Amino acid sequence: MELTQLLSIHAILVKLFLGFLVLGIAIAFIPKSSEKLKKMSFSYTMIFQLVATLILLTGLYALYLNGWHIGIAEIIMIVVWALMMFIEIKKHKAIKMSHAEDLQSAKSGFLKVSIIQTLLLALTVALMVMKAKGVVAI
Ligand code: HEM
Repeated sequence: MELTQLLSIHAILVKLFLGFLVLGIAIAFIPKSSEKLKKMSFSYTMIFQLVATLILLTGLYALYLNGWHIGIAEIIMIVVWALMMFIEIKKHKAIKMSHAEDLQSAKSGFLKVSIIQTLLLALTVALMVMKAKGVVAI
């Protein structure tokens, strides 16, 4: 596969991921019981990890095609990716361990994390788009 094709798949997956994170902000309001929140959080984290893994694989393959040239842009992407995975696993564990009477705080925790992750991803996308357009040189 050519690098340009691969990068467009990478970029589509990233946009899909952004859409999924925005959806996370909306679905944080839905569960009416701790049980439902835990079930939803499990499915959410599974899909999150699936899409994140695809982003990582396409990114690593792009790096390989590019002769493992790692610049600031690649370092930023890898750090943001790892940070998002770390936050997601911590959030999922916290929700799994939460008690029925903590429903409101567990829901607001889910919401907070979704907002932070959306902003983090949107900022990274904006930076990469500016780099592609030559607005920033990283
Ligand atoms: C949350 C994480 C990530 C975001 C938001 C992201 C976003 C992007 C975007 C928007 C592009 C530009 C695509 C284009 O030219 O149309 C890109 C390119 C690229 N990404 Fe990612 N990416 C992420 C994670 C990763 C990871 C984990 C890797 C590698 C392990 C990676 C490797 C690359 C490479 C090699 C390129 C092309 C190189 C370049 O233009 O300098 N990305 N990424």
